[in-house]
Amino acid sequence: MTTDTASQLDEFCAARLAALEKQDLRRYLATTKRQGKAQTLHKTLHRANKPPALDETRDNMRDKTRDKARDEITPIQTEAGAKTPPAQNATQDKALLSFSCNDYLGLAHHPAVIQAAQEAAAEYGASAGASRLVTGNHPLFATLEAQLAELKQTQDCVVFGSGYLANIGLIPALATSRDLLLIDELAHACIYAGAQLSGAEIIRFKHNNMAELETHLAQRRGAYEKCLLLTDGVFSMDGDLAPLPQMRHLADQYNAWLITDDAHGIGVVGGGRGSSFAFQPAVKPDIQMGTLSKAVGSYGGYVCASATVCAFLRNRARPFIYSTGLPPMSAAAAIAALQLIATDRSLTERPLALARQFCAQIGLSEPQSPIVPIILRTAKAALQASMQLAQDGYLVTAIRPPSVPENTARLRVAFSAAHTMEQVAQFGARVKQILQTIADEKMTDETMADETMASDIAKPAEPVLQEK
Ligand SMILES: Cc1ncc(COP(=O)(O)O)c(C=O)c1O
Repeated sequence: MTTDTASQLDEFCAARLAALEKQDLRRYLATTKRQGKAQTLHKTLHRANKPPALDETRDNMRDKTRDKARDEITPIQTEAGAKTPPAQNATQDKALLSFSCNDYLGLAHHPAVIQAAQEAAAEYGASAGASRLVTGNHPLFATLEAQLAELKQTQDCVVFGSGYLANIGLIPALATSRDLLLIDELAHACIYAGAQLSGAEIIRFKHNNMAELETHLAQRRGAYEKCLLLTDGVFSMDGDLAPLPQMRHLADQYNAWLITDDAHGIGVVGGGRGSSFAFQPAVKPDIQMGTLSKAVGSYGGYVCASATVCAFLRNRARPFIYSTGLPPMSAAAAIAALQLIATDRSLTERPLALARQFCAQIGLSEPQSPIVPIILRTAKAALQASMQLAQDGYLVTAIRPPSVPENTARLRVAFSAAHTMEQVAQFGARVKQILQTIADEKMTDETMADETMASDIAKPAEPVLQEK
């Protein structure tokens, strides 16, 4: 992040925090430990109701996390015969091997992750019990936020109830009707939901099209107070990366704040740190948000940013203020999973390696993430391919409009560290056959259409192996 956009963002947040402070409306988090049936409340009140220095909290928490992790975490089995069963889904008495799940590292079923969740439920209960600003800020939040900030190399982090809640809290907290939001057309629905709630002017630019983005900036930026560039880091349905170095450059040039949604990047690209770290040198967005519900194998959302931005969000992001905190077991599961992500490079590299193996086998261009789209165009073709794969024991959900643009219905294949190379090879062979059958059927239909001269017969879609 350049000093300019970073300090402008901080100044904006600091000014609003100061205004709240002046009216005695500024909130600080106090940690509350709810234990046992008697509901004993242990509330850690900070001196003068102010939080301790950030570094102090972090250091204590980090030490505790490390010690705990050393005792409890065993490495995931990532080779053939892996015990983790996330890829199994039961449909009508038939177990299907899933290539659709977002649990990219198989951590939702990792023994250490499950154990951490169980222990947290036993110690702190099954619910946070209230908004974090009331009594829901159980002790695990500090550990989790410190871990995420360290992984993303930011000063601080705020954990929300989900990724969706994070975006619909973050964007309206920062933008108003006097501001401009430039959003990639394929960005996730919750970015658009947050954008609409803000009341700001929204421009969708063509997917990853930096020339178009620059044209909008050149023509429109001057008419607005603030400008936010918003994009997925890894696109959820296409698996490609946003061109973050170019976006950073444009953000600096046109005085805009760059915000990335790294829901599908954390744990699986950039050495596990996410999309900003997939580039050399790493890119520094002004804000990195994401979810704990995919590669992290748990549930919840986060925003990583400067300490001032995070303090501002704790005061102004409505889903943070008005929604119950994440349950202790979800936070504990994420803590255990993030410990693995931060330390096991062979784990975080595996899903992308398997995606590469698959793409090489069926003749697709090299993937940038563990998500590989096979565009079949029509909903009918996508459903047909999905059903054929189910008959062979594979679960690959057909993705159709409006989740993806018209005429781009697809199979969205997602690879997991829990898959074996052999499973991927067998799956690849079957996908290849099915694509060939669809292509042959299309040729037959076209010939029949020519013969009958029935020009009004709708043509079935030709399978397209998407070039990125
Ligand atoms: C890019 C992106 N952002 C945000 C979300 C929302 O995250 P969550 O499932 O934690 O609400 C998702 C996933 O569903 C996503 O794919």
